Amino acid sequence: MTDEQNGAVSPHRRRFLPAARGLHGTLRVPGDKSVSHRAALLGAVNDGPVRVSGFLRSADTLATLAAVRALGVTVEEAGSELVIHGSGWEGLSEPADVIDVRNAGTLMRLLPGLVASLPFLCVLTGDASIRRRPMARVLGPLREMGATVAGRGHDSLPPVAIRGGALRGTRHQLAVASAQVKSCILLAGLRAQGETQVVEPGASRDHTERMIRYAGGRVEREGPSDGPGTVRLWPVERLKMDSLAVPGDFSSAAFFIVAALLIDDSLVTIENAGLNPTRTGLLTVLDRMGAAIEVEGTEASGPEPVGRVTARTSRLVATEVQAYEVANVIDELPLFLLAAAKAEGVSRLRGAAELRAKESDRLRAMSRLLQALGAEVVERPDGMDVIGDPNGWRGGSIVTEGDHRVAMVGAIAGAASRDGTRIDDVDCIAVSYPEFVRDLEALEGR
Ligand code: S3P
Repeated sequence: MTDEQNGAVSPHRRRFLPAARGLHGTLRVPGDKSVSHRAALLGAVNDGPVRVSGFLRSADTLATLAAVRALGVTVEEAGSELVIHGSGWEGLSEPADVIDVRNAGTLMRLLPGLVASLPFLCVLTGDASIRRRPMARVLGPLREMGATVAGRGHDSLPPVAIRGGALRGTRHQLAVASAQVKSCILLAGLRAQGETQVVEPGASRDHTERMIRYAGGRVEREGPSDGPGTVRLWPVERLKMDSLAVPGDFSSAAFFIVAALLIDDSLVTIENAGLNPTRTGLLTVLDRMGAAIEVEGTEASGPEPVGRVTARTSRLVATEVQAYEVANVIDELPLFLLAAAKAEGVSRLRGAAELRAKESDRLRAMSRLLQALGAEVVERPDGMDVIGDPNGWRGGSIVTEGDHRVAMVGAIAGAASRDGTRIDDVDCIAVSYPEFVRDLEALEGR
């Protein structure tokens, strides 16, 4: 049976032509996806209503709003803002049906932590990509803390079921630096008896910690800010935020920063970009590659630092990204690999096996993408070697595997190419950045 006969709609294909006149202009990117998920989840257990500005409205974060509504929380649209009417954990009630997280990995990992102390059943599933993503890493620690949990494939895969209970604090050693796993444990720890500790082998993004502190909770990190450490959290009676500002998503800004570097005659400024140091590792990597980027901090009105980033066309040289840097650049590694394909010399990525457990196997997807462009790469179990060519690439047909970040890299690759690219699925871009094509066209002057 074909997809059409099946009632399924095939994704839209699209060509991305070379940006003949370069990219020019100033852009405000949409709200940060990670911070928006956390705003909805912590807002749902806030003590009273919280007004959220800058909330990202994308497929992933709308799935989170639907999930908190399914847990009995009222979410009101107030112009461009959202008002989430939390009333503590007591305000959450048993969902009447299975919660579908769609493609949202962050929701899949964080929601079990939020409900782990509640004595009702919560069952979570998602799309085909979500149902391949590892869950033992969050179910294990929740079980250790006292929740009853189960998942498909010997508790390793979605769908998963959580029946919460009285929790005790734990000390959990993460095998890989993962903000999703850390955040799940911290959310559960807010309601546990005693202190909770998460030991991380590298510093992963700290949005959950910042928001908990902003809402009056106590959480501390011991260890170097760019290395291994222990996050310590104490239970709270209540969390209280009146308002919360979500910054622009650095990961979305990163597409246009790299595009400006790669495309001749470009100068692009991103306003209101989130500049949380646990997220901006790409800037350090690009700096080593000789990129002309200026960063200026501006006044922050919430728990996250923000600023302005300006990037212009640059001649890049190869660099290596090692394991210790990976957590800080995790979602921008596909962009690093694309930039490496136009840099002088051989770039190397190591210690990044985690990329195989994202929305797609991003090491495989990126090695296919770069080869489709005509670039030379060697894929490795935990990374890649990219043999750069400053003359760039001709273009080609890109298979996204339904992965929004691969699709956007393919679009940027087209704008930076000689002949353009053809992308097999642009619909998946709506997972994180529904206005992406419009914003790219605006910078191209189309
Ligand atoms: C995220 C953490 C990262 C990142 C994902 C969003 C988050 O995943 O890749 O897109 O919001 O916590 P891991 O922490 O599992 O690496």
